[in-house]
Amino acid sequence: MASLTVRKLDEALKASLRLRAAKAGRSVEDEVRMILREAAEAPAKTQSSPARSTPAQPHRPRTPSATDLPRVTLIIGGGIAAYKALDLIRRLKERGIHVRSVMTRAAQQFVTPLTAGALADERCYTDLFDAQSEFDAGHIRLARDTDLIIVAPATADLMAKMAQGHADDLATAILLATNRPVLVAPAMNPLMWANAATKRNVAQLARDGVSFIGPNSGEMAEANEAGVGRMSEPTEIAIAAEAMLRPLHTGPLAGKKILITAGPTHEPIDPVRYIANRSSGKQGYAIAASAADAGADVTLISGPVDLDDPAGVRVIRVESARDMLAQVEAALPVDIAIFAAAVADWRVASAGEQKIKKTASGMPPLQLVENPDILATVSKRQQNRPQLVIGFAAETQNLIDNATSKLKRKGCDWIVANDVSPASGVMGGDRNTVHILTRDKADIAVDSWPVMTKEEVAGALVAKIAETMEE
Ligand SMILES: Cc1cc2nc3c(=O)[nH]c(=O)nc-3n(C[C@H](O)[C@H](O)[C@H](O)COP(=O)(O)O)c2cc1C
Repeated sequence: MASLTVRKLDEALKASLRLRAAKAGRSVEDEVRMILREAAEAPAKTQSSPARSTPAQPHRPRTPSATDLPRVTLIIGGGIAAYKALDLIRRLKERGIHVRSVMTRAAQQFVTPLTAGALADERCYTDLFDAQSEFDAGHIRLARDTDLIIVAPATADLMAKMAQGHADDLATAILLATNRPVLVAPAMNPLMWANAATKRNVAQLARDGVSFIGPNSGEMAEANEAGVGRMSEPTEIAIAAEAMLRPLHTGPLAGKKILITAGPTHEPIDPVRYIANRSSGKQGYAIAASAADAGADVTLISGPVDLDDPAGVRVIRVESARDMLAQVEAALPVDIAIFAAAVADWRVASAGEQKIKKTASGMPPLQLVENPDILATVSKRQQNRPQLVIGFAAETQNLIDNATSKLKRKGCDWIVANDVSPASGVMGGDRNTVHILTRDKADIAVDSWPVMTKEEVAGALVAKIAETMEE
């Protein structure tokens, strides 16, 4: 069959095609395919035939065409793990995901665009100044005409460029021009991963809303090297991508925006010391995962924890209570806010700029000042107050009494109270026993749940939220 080259059409036709494509949110190529498909079906529709009543036809679902499939733009960086990106194309395709591949110049030293193109059923894009695809600003199309961008392997160099906003090749131009979610799978030598510059870049990208998967720990391609830096396996990346692509309009919280905080905060004493608490973040992360599974659009603002990002959740990492409040306020408006983080009540009034040294005059006086109260601040907002504000009360004594007075004092709608005394094993553990305090007109109702895993608590809480939102 002859192939159609859009570039060779006359300018007026190209302009009208671009307009149609933009209105339909499709690429020019996909728009042309759509027009051809409609034209092929048209004779059957327009054939004149004697008027005749026909029995109602049962609805037959259309076989999804390439344009209906969820779409991923896969950017392959120049690392040894580039060979795994080829398998990733297959793993994505077997999940019904349409893949367009892009390679950096360095990636082409490891694998060929020909292989990626053959596996993806579409040519692999490599050049920012490619006349064939840039006649209609192809890099913008690759950036926007997709549901998700995956960077795998993400080299240290590529992440540095992303964090700095470079756009001097096709991969970085796409990443800078996109308004779609981005999933990054880093892969590099453990020392490169542990390098302070890489850490800064990863932290910056996480703050910018980029999602990460991996790296895993294990053997490196280099002989006798092991540690954290191996790219996640293609199946792991495909599962994470699938979760991020899951349509937001399925599940009981479809269309709802949820903000969740989790983990402890670190309040600096000096550049190397901080005040912290024992929160692991597990309960907040489990709630975020459960809310995403229920179809919600979830933003998780997390203090420093040792947990992987839940699939399909936008994770923003912070250190201190003040950073957390700033990110919470930036994330508003939302429908529901759940404050599960164990925010430090106090911080050091003036943290030392240099490491505080031991002196003969004894211990340095550490003056503490109160941190902002995130739960009360959001609960009492006049504008953009979430419809449902849920706080957590972690208590070691008089659990229900303390939680009741917290509910009244803070102005939130519900309190999830849990006993965090050392004997309970809740802090850092996998199980939790919670009591849900809700406002019932002038009274406060207490619903006590049995001991459950933190995932089970999360599931039950999300179900209760969904029920309430429906009412
Ligand atoms: C054999 C070899 C293997 C490499 N593997 C990696 C790697 O796994 N991760 C990484 O970050 N860089 C790796 N590099 C360095 C990158 O190729 C280099 O930083 C390059 O500029 C990355 O370009 P890109 O980010 O545009 O793809 C490797 C280099 C060589 C020569």
